[in-house]
Amino acid sequence: MIVAIDGPAGSGKSTVALTLARRLGFFHLDTGAMYRALTWLAREEGVGLDDGPALARLAREHPVSFDAEGRVEIAGHEVAGAIREAEIDRLVPVVARHREVREVMRERQHALGSAGDAVIEGRDIGTVVAPEAEVKVFLVADESERARRRGEDRPGVGADTLAEDLRIRDERDAVNTRPAADALVLDTTQLSVDEVVSRIAALVTERR
Ligand code: DC
Repeated sequence: MIVAIDGPAGSGKSTVALTLARRLGFFHLDTGAMYRALTWLAREEGVGLDDGPALARLAREHPVSFDAEGRVEIAGHEVAGAIREAEIDRLVPVVARHREVREVMRERQHALGSAGDAVIEGRDIGTVVAPEAEVKVFLVADESERARRRGEDRPGVGADTLAEDLRIRDERDAVNTRPAADALVLDTTQLSVDEVVSRIAALVTERR
């Protein structure tokens, strides 16, 4: 079974997807981490972030891999920490925008996610990567709450900067971020992680 969890930055996707996957014993696939790792490698190798075909070649040559301990690897480098830097936050939408890059990523995401039961999180999982997913959820939250959550992950970054970064990322990501027609849209502003996870787990039980 595939559980697709989509939504914008700060909607609670990552925490919810990881907690849900652990609770169900499903594989957890963070597709945002794949775009982040490619962005990190492109910087490392000096590949232009505006060059879609070159980035797609880089992605094809260096598939991202994950392990159960949360390590993220690309081209022999462990990048789980580095891909969460503010610099990558800013640059990753530029990389994720290229159609050629998305095609390579989609193939890899499909291969990784369809091996068994999986919770796949991203922006376009329910619509493009796994439209066949049995459970589709699109998480949303108020802007101020999303900025507050980002702040918890980025201590030391000012509230105004966080809100502005979020606004810019929303604009850049908007084109690939939308709920599938058959997705449950869940507002997480007032909900705890446990409440969100329980609701999705109930959907999984229902669809099984
Ligand atoms: O969810 P995140 O912040 O880790 O995502 C990083 C970037 O990758 C963000 O700019 C959106 C983009 N992304 C995407 O376009 N499609 C996905 N399936 C996942 C992430």
